Amino acid sequence: MILTEEQKAILDGKKGETLAKVMETVVRYGELFGAEKLVPVTSKYNHLVTSFGLKMIGPVYDLMNELIEAGAVSKQQFSLDPRPTDPNVPANFLQNLIFNKIMYSKQDFYEGQLKQLGLMNDDAFTCTCYMDEVGNKPKKGEVLSWAESSAVVYANSVLGARCNRNSGIIDIMGSVVGYVPYFGLLTDEGRKATWVVEIKTTKKPEAQLLGSAIGMKVMEAVPYVKGLDKWLGNELDDSACTYLKDFGAATASNGAVGLYHIDGLTPEAKDEGEKLIKEGAQVYVIDDAELKRVYDSYPVIWKNPDAKPKLCFMGCPHMSLEQLKTWTDRVENGLKKTGNKKVVIPTVFTAAPAVIKEFEKTPYAARLKATGVIVSYICPLMYMNNPLCGKMPVITSSNKLRTYTTARYYTDDEILAQITGGKK
Ligand code: F3S
Repeated sequence: MILTEEQKAILDGKKGETLAKVMETVVRYGELFGAEKLVPVTSKYNHLVTSFGLKMIGPVYDLMNELIEAGAVSKQQFSLDPRPTDPNVPANFLQNLIFNKIMYSKQDFYEGQLKQLGLMNDDAFTCTCYMDEVGNKPKKGEVLSWAESSAVVYANSVLGARCNRNSGIIDIMGSVVGYVPYFGLLTDEGRKATWVVEIKTTKKPEAQLLGSAIGMKVMEAVPYVKGLDKWLGNELDDSACTYLKDFGAATASNGAVGLYHIDGLTPEAKDEGEKLIKEGAQVYVIDDAELKRVYDSYPVIWKNPDAKPKLCFMGCPHMSLEQLKTWTDRVENGLKKTGNKKVVIPTVFTAAPAVIKEFEKTPYAARLKATGVIVSYICPLMYMNNPLCGKMPVITSSNKLRTYTTARYYTDDEILAQITGGKK
C-alpha cells in the first residue's frame, strides 16, 4: 500500500505507539482487500456497532482503555447501535437476571468508556443514526468508517455516502486514525451494479420480503432495481426512506448487500441512471410468484410450530417517526375491527431514543399506549440472543431478526392481524 508522508509517520510511531498500532491495523485490513491507498474519513460523525457491555468481551474494554489512556481518541463524535436491555420490555425474573447480572453486566462500565471516547449524547444508541431526530446523517460523497450493516447500506444507497461493510472495531480504528482503505464501495467502479432486478409485482412488494429475495440472490453484489419507483415514487420522502430502510436491512442481512440503486429514486441512480450497470450484468425478475416462493422457503425453527406467539417485535431496524404514527393508526383500526381493546400478543415497537422523544410529543404516543403496545429503544436481536429468549415463540416482520434468531417472519398485514386478534 502506498502511504503519504503523514500516514507513514503515524505508522512509524511519531504520534505515539498506540496510534501506530491503530494505523497498522487499518493498513493490514486494507491490504487484505487489495487496497492501494488510504483516504480520509470525511463525515462529521462516526457510528459504532459495538454497543453492548457483554461480560465476555474483556479485550474490547482493554482496547478502549488503551485508546483513552494514550489520548488516541477520534476527532469524530459517534452514535452507536441500540442498547441491549430496556426494563420496559417484557422479561421474566430469570431473563432479567441473565440480562443484567450475567450477559450485559458491564454495560454501565462500557458506556463510561464510550463517553470518554466521544459518544454524541445519551440518546445516540440506535442503528438508525441517520434519522433527522438523531442527527448522524452523512452527506452525499462523504467517506465513512461504519460497520452496522443496515446503516452502511442505507448511507451508501439512500444518502450516497461511501462506506464499506467494515467489521466492528475496524469502525473505531478508521475513525481514530482518520483514514480508511480505498477499495470496494469507496470506488466508482465498486459502486457499479452487476445485477439488474426487475420488479414485476401486481402490488407494492413488502419491503422486508423484497429485500430478502434480492439479498439471497445477489449476495454481496450491487443490484440496480428497476420498476420499484412505480410503487415508491421519484422523491425520497419519509415514506420512501422508511421503505428503503427496511428493504436495505433485509438485503444486507439475508445477503451481504452494502449498496443498491433504485432506478429513478436513489441519488446515484437519479444522476447516472443505467450507466451504473456493468456490462454483462445478470438479471433477476421478481413477480408475485417469486415473492411467495421466497416467503415459503423460510424455515420455522420453533420447537412447536403451532405455539401461540409470546412476543412480537417490530422495528428492526428501528422504526421511523412516520412508521410509529402509521402503525398507531393501523393497530387502532385493527382493534376496532376485532373488537379487542388491547393487543392480544405482547408487542414491542422499537425506535431510536431521539425518535421516541419526538413521538412522545405527539398525540399518537398516548393512543399507541392505550392499545397496549410498548415502545422501546432496545435491539430485539440482543434481547433474543440468549438461550432463554431464544426458545420463546417470537413473531416479527423483520427479516434481519428472522435471519439471526428463532423469530418467525410474517408480513406487516399478518402481524397486524395476529396482534389485534384477527386471523393470520
Ligand atoms: Fe438494529 Fe438491532 Fe435490528 S441493531 S437492525 S434493531 S438487529
